[in-house]
Amino acid sequence: MEIRLSERLRKLPPYLFREIDMLKQKARQEGKSLIDLSIGDPDMPTPGFIVEAMAEAIRNPSTHRYPSYDGLMEFREAVVQWYNERFGVDLDPKNEVVALIGSKEGIAHLPFALLDPGDEVLVPDPGYPVYTQASILADATPKPFPLTWEYGFLPKMEVLEAAAGPKTRLIYLSYPNNPTAARAPLGFFEEVAAWAKVKGIVIAHDAAYSEVFLDPPTPSFLQAYGAKEVGVEFHSLSKTFSMTGWRVGFCVGNASVLKALVQVKSNIDSGVFEAIQRAGIVALRNAKHASLAIASVYAQRRKQAVGRLKSAGIEVFPSDATFYLWCRLPKGSDSRSFAKRLIEENQVVVTPGVGFGSMGEGFFRISLTAPDEAISTGIERIVQAF
Ligand SMILES: Cc1ncc(COP(=O)(O)O)c(C=O)c1O
Repeated sequence: MEIRLSERLRKLPPYLFREIDMLKQKARQEGKSLIDLSIGDPDMPTPGFIVEAMAEAIRNPSTHRYPSYDGLMEFREAVVQWYNERFGVDLDPKNEVVALIGSKEGIAHLPFALLDPGDEVLVPDPGYPVYTQASILADATPKPFPLTWEYGFLPKMEVLEAAAGPKTRLIYLSYPNNPTAARAPLGFFEEVAAWAKVKGIVIAHDAAYSEVFLDPPTPSFLQAYGAKEVGVEFHSLSKTFSMTGWRVGFCVGNASVLKALVQVKSNIDSGVFEAIQRAGIVALRNAKHASLAIASVYAQRRKQAVGRLKSAGIEVFPSDATFYLWCRLPKGSDSRSFAKRLIEENQVVVTPGVGFGSMGEGFFRISLTAPDEAISTGIERIVQAF
């Protein structure tokens, strides 16, 4: 029997990284020693004190039962305390915080809570592909808006104004940004929050990389005046504490949006494993020290890698945030062919910029999530390929 797939699944754009995945697999089968600088998955292990907290929590049978849909009150209170200390923003743990099975889960469920068929969602180009795919899966229409190097990969308000139509209900933004590493100043969030209120558009700010920086601290969207009235912010423990496999994050902000999100989630998942939330509480209570230790490693790697790339004439977008390097290709180059050639001839994997949207063409992304030695060898191979 031929299985008929849903129209919405067929509407998903082709997976642009498939070709790269296949080439990677082929090279590995041929016994080539590939250096993979393409994946945003930290190579460093989760700090020991978090693992210990998990080990203790998992031995307690009370954590073995179904968790609550919106998260343990103690977890939400730990989020509130961390948020207040880090950003100076007050949150109500009851209505303004929801635990997530990783921030991707919440980012992807949000369109189901807010949108009807035909509603439009503004998504950054280049951007994290989940904003587009999740909108399509919810029968909404993603509308890309361009981010350019010239404006620091921040959309000018005129650009958002031009992209927003009468059916626009939601905008995804994300700073520090994947894939470009761009930061947003608080002034930008202030402008966006004021504009969104006039327009009646919800802002979903994805802050998955909020703790991967050195100095000065990156702001939260919720620090902007009136932000809670118009939006929510997604956070993740994945990159902050090297916990990608654990699947834990949270969403904070507008109580009505969060209530709707929990309504969707309660029909699909059953919350975050309590033992993981208990480990998450310990992580958040020790966030300052733990996240700084991790961010410092990326900063050191960035300094060395950027120095070498620049000395070879390769332009890297200047930033100290995230663990990505957004690099410009020579004029007229095609990012997919470049990434393919790197795997086949130089045994190093980077992400072609076009995989993040058409505005990503002409760029490639390096992820500093490999041991130091692998990164420096990988960077040498990239330099050779140039
Ligand atoms: C911009 C961005 N947002 C969200 C996520 C999802 O992270 P997680 O689901 O692990 O919290 C990622 C993961 O790479 C990301 O790059």
